Amino acid sequence: MATERTLSIIKPDATRRNLTGKVVDRLETAGLRVVAQKRLWLSQKQAEAFYAVHKERPFFGDLVKFMTSGPVVVQVLEGANAVAKNREVMGATDPKKAAPGTIRKDFAESIEANSVHGSDSPENAANEIKFFFSDTEIVG
Ligand code: CMP
Repeated sequence: MATERTLSIIKPDATRRNLTGKVVDRLETAGLRVVAQKRLWLSQKQAEAFYAVHKERPFFGDLVKFMTSGPVVVQVLEGANAVAKNREVMGATDPKKAAPGTIRKDFAESIEANSVHGSDSPENAANEIKFFFSDTEIVG
């Protein structure tokens, strides 16, 4: 299995409820290694740029408002098939549709305040990791 890296974001609804450690525990228990991590408060410009792919979607404005409503924790996760593994541990975008035992099923408040983000492909992971981290900040 290929060792990969993926970008994870612990979103403002989770940091507000002091769930950072619980989310990290789920990730580590699943075999993912946190090889970079920092806590940030995204600016509107950063949130708009990070989610630019969604800018025509009706929820874009609300998404940017939510993602700038409090601190986030951005992380690089490393492991075998890390992109798919992280998506499995996160569960479906909509917590109502997420499988039992997933982060979103157990912690998310809504489809918007859904506690975590994870890259959806290795190509996007590489770009999203570069968005937040320089090479020297990632220590595997
Ligand atoms: P995320 O994985 O961070 O990618 C885009 C985000 O948009 C998604 O998680 C949700 O938090 C948010 N979002 C809000 N409304 C919707 C929606 N109707 N469909 C998909 N994503 C949504």
